[in-house]
Amino acid sequence: MSVSIGRHLLSSQDLNNETAVALLDTAARLDAAMTGREVKKLPTLRGRTVVNLFYEDSTRTRTSFELAAKRLSADVVNFSAKGSSVSKGESLKDTALTLQAMGSDAVVIRHHLSGAPRRLATWIEGSVINAGDGTHEHPTQALLDAFTMRRRLRDGEGDLKGLRVVVVGDVLHSRVARSNVRLLRTLGAEVVLVAPPTLLPVGVAEWPCEVSYDLDSALPGADVVMMLRVQRERMTASYFPSAREYSRRYGLDAARLAKCEEHTLVMHPGPMNRGMEISAEVADDPRRSVITEQVTNGVSVRMAVLYMLLSGEGVANE
Ligand code: NCD
Repeated sequence: MSVSIGRHLLSSQDLNNETAVALLDTAARLDAAMTGREVKKLPTLRGRTVVNLFYEDSTRTRTSFELAAKRLSADVVNFSAKGSSVSKGESLKDTALTLQAMGSDAVVIRHHLSGAPRRLATWIEGSVINAGDGTHEHPTQALLDAFTMRRRLRDGEGDLKGLRVVVVGDVLHSRVARSNVRLLRTLGAEVVLVAPPTLLPVGVAEWPCEVSYDLDSALPGADVVMMLRVQRERMTASYFPSAREYSRRYGLDAARLAKCEEHTLVMHPGPMNRGMEISAEVADDPRRSVITEQVTNGVSVRMAVLYMLLSGEGVANE
């Protein structure tokens, strides 16, 4: 049987339980194929071109997509808005058409405007992958988070039915939270969002999750605690009294972590504000924190996305 995820990956909602699980299975297979290999390269996408089109700063996501494409033997072009004709005022559309004219098969886009990847998909013929658009979505982050949870808590198989995931912090500005709530629900997990009322979006009551203002009461019973970065660069007003007050009520430190279960995992998409939403001690806790594992898994998950979109084979889930 073959499962196809279509031409683009713009949102977590592009995936249903079957396609999301197939994607995680593909990532696991690619990960296994790379492990222990001296030359970390598969020939799958030889001759295909992937463009990384980044209008916002990024460390992890950009390098992760670059490595993923290179490990599948694709040619990779890195394009960042700084130092390009974008600073001369070139529009997204003209930039995209230029890249297409050079024969790109897929464009990985990060943009400060929510919806930019969807617009792009109407202009170009190749695949578009959303690597984070404004405060909207970041589907590959949600996939790598799900992959990490599945590997640690579900023996690397199936979906995430019954898992309780507590997502804490600046939900209002977080595309990671939006994509995670959707994908985790699709995979059968229960999600609890915890934030001060000022950092929750309008309409959150309609999201498929619980909402709480109180971190301490949400922690017992959580299988995963996912901390979100306080996104100061997106804040136009004052959302909480002080950094100290924020971390006192919503930061994860060792004392709070002690209220969790023995097996509870701590996650963070990075970059972290150490001492604000997460203490250094918790971030570096070798037993609980899987933050660097998330980064490692990101490469396999992005390889799987590129493979499923570009190989034209869907994915064989024999
Ligand atoms: C996230 C992002 O850019 O949305 N980071 C990431 O991709 N690893 C989260 C954040 O910036 O806080």
